[in-house]
Amino acid sequence: MGLLENKARARLFYKYLSRVYDQVNPFIWTEAMRTEALSLLEIEDDMTVLDVGSGTGFATEGLLEHVDEVYALDQSEHQLEQAYEKFGKRAPPVHFHRGDAERLPFATDTFDVVWSSGSIEYWPNPILALREFRRVLKPGGQVLVVGPNYPDNVVSQLLADSIMLFYDEYEADHMFKTAGFEDVKHAFMGPSYDPEVAITTIGRAPE
Ligand SMILES: C[S@@+](CC[C@H](N)C(=O)[O-])C[C@H]1O[C@@H](n2cnc3c(N)ncnc32)[C@H](O)[C@@H]1O
Repeated sequence: MGLLENKARARLFYKYLSRVYDQVNPFIWTEAMRTEALSLLEIEDDMTVLDVGSGTGFATEGLLEHVDEVYALDQSEHQLEQAYEKFGKRAPPVHFHRGDAERLPFATDTFDVVWSSGSIEYWPNPILALREFRRVLKPGGQVLVVGPNYPDNVVSQLLADSIMLFYDEYEADHMFKTAGFEDVKHAFMGPSYDPEVAITTIGRAPE
């Protein structure tokens, strides 16, 4: 398990990274990639949407181009503070929650869409979190998760594995199907200088 696949360490990491997250983020997770990922969803403006590991609100902003309101959850108070400055803390369009992807504070069958970008790589038990996503999704609801694509060469693989979760489509298939999702599909994307750094997986909760 990688160094940052640990909730306390990930919180400490984001205590410092949150200060520069919005300046660093566009080098690996761009607006074009976000648009491409959003295009994989069948999304309507009155849908109930949850953004898990919402951070400073980059994906939340993209989701708000399609829906009226977003529920946003993150475990880092420092990341959430940055997001509050953009959206306000207590009023729509964003309903913020501080919490853990693996123990979502929402009722069963609540959401039409659960989105998570750039967060799965920090979760100690991604299948547990994905089972939580399925629980809070309405029957037939859509899941979309963006994570780091497994690198091709051995040196990068060793480095990647020592830091956090990087995965390929076979591992993604296994995780999403074990968590109970159907119609699981993957898309690869990346910034123009280095394609395919991200793997995006979509699926549906059973009807
Ligand atoms: C790379 S940022 C992604 C932020 C945002 N989703 C985006 O697209 O820019 C990863 C976020 O996941 C959050 N995170 C990591 N582990 C988490 C967990 N177990 N539960 C909730 N959030 C978590 C971190 O605090 C951080 O804000």
